[in-house]
Amino acid sequence: MQPSMLSELSEDPQDKTRYRSGSFTDNMKLPVHRWFRYSAGFSAEWAENVIRSVSNGSEIRILDPFCGSGTTLLSAAKAGVSSVGFEAHPFVARIASIKLKTDVDLQELETTADLILRRAKQLHPPQPVTSSDLLLKCYTPEALSALEALRMAYVDAESANILGAASGHIWLAITSILRECSGVGTAQWQYVLPNKTKARTREPYEAFEARIRMFLDDLCYAKDHLTAAGKVLRTDARNPDCSGGFDLVLTSPPYPNNYDYADATRLEMTFWEEISRWGDLQCAVRQYLIRSCSQHSAAEKLSLDALLADNTVAPIREELTAVCRKLDEVRQTKGGRKTYHTMVAAYFVDLAKVMTSLRGLVRPGGRLALMIGDSAPYGVYAPVDKWLGDLAISSGFHSFDFEKVRDRNTKWKNRKHTVPLKEGILWVEA
Ligand SMILES: C[S@@+](CC[C@H](N)C(=O)[O-])C[C@H]1O[C@@H](n2cnc3c(N)ncnc32)[C@H](O)[C@@H]1O
Repeated sequence: MQPSMLSELSEDPQDKTRYRSGSFTDNMKLPVHRWFRYSAGFSAEWAENVIRSVSNGSEIRILDPFCGSGTTLLSAAKAGVSSVGFEAHPFVARIASIKLKTDVDLQELETTADLILRRAKQLHPPQPVTSSDLLLKCYTPEALSALEALRMAYVDAESANILGAASGHIWLAITSILRECSGVGTAQWQYVLPNKTKARTREPYEAFEARIRMFLDDLCYAKDHLTAAGKVLRTDARNPDCSGGFDLVLTSPPYPNNYDYADATRLEMTFWEEISRWGDLQCAVRQYLIRSCSQHSAAEKLSLDALLADNTVAPIREELTAVCRKLDEVRQTKGGRKTYHTMVAAYFVDLAKVMTSLRGLVRPGGRLALMIGDSAPYGVYAPVDKWLGDLAISSGFHSFDFEKVRDRNTKWKNRKHTVPLKEGILWVEA
């Protein structure tokens, strides 16, 4: 545990936003971070403060094994510390890699974006060409035709090999305007809600131009402020293709709370024709991820007995078995019969593997800072902080301590259950 490090983070111990912004909106005000809305797990400022206090001027190496859209890596770059991130979601890994590529020539990006915009206006189809229900529900025909024109212009230019080093940024600019151009509810955290409408939308060509201007501004900022390299590896944190020697692991793993990271980019992946329906997500994305949602455990038709017998969860087997058996019992009384029993078991099998792999990657004396949250599917409580701590110790780490950052599930009237939950940092010493 690092009490001294914590006290350096903020003057005001009540200021919980220093860790995590409740949502990820704080990061959306920051250069480069704001290029794509994704649930970051913690604030970039908090990550930068932790990195600075651990490095304290010396050269260290940072790892984020669940790097998502790259918050930790960008924070490390700002602190002048080199970093590596793992991300198993192919679409999200691509986004993070582009955000970390800040050496693109500004003139080249501007000229290429201009070319794409002019070409899109020439290609603009009179009607949308897609037959995707999701896209047709999310956009007016005019907006969808313009977005498709941008996509066609990009795909043509890419296959003609004329986009050069700006290709990724053009792709991300189109990707990142999809939600603001939609008239329906498309908040990131709630996936896509075609039955809700939004008050404000943007015209696609205008949104694209504005996005490119934002990228150009942020790239100017990056040249002066993001001074170290960050590298994103599309690999699985359970069995990563990477060598060790890291001083600090700073991350927010998926929580066992049924959030489906595959579904979070369904709109974008449908637009780019990487998937055509919801069912494609299992094969395109979910199969690579930690099993933290019931869609995943249901699709894999997992056996609870086999999961509980897995050696990796031996240190927590007794408590895990009691919780999973209870969940199996409760689900019989529920209409949805969600497979939370196998989801929870599979989640801890997966996180046990992550702990083992991290032990091999962190140098002796190094540490982990994991932003984690507990959960209570169907009202059955799983003590995530204790179990992950126990798994860390059995993987060969030295000690752990949990620092609560905030309470959850206390505010809403229409809560699914009344079990108090919390979120905080699991500090683990190697
Ligand atoms: C809480 S999010 C982290 C968000 C991140 N801090 C950011 O700045 O965007 C957890 C991430 O873990 C990724 N993930 C899930 N399973 C994984 C695995 N087996 N290996 C690597 N990444 C994985 C998810 O796709 C998701 O992006």
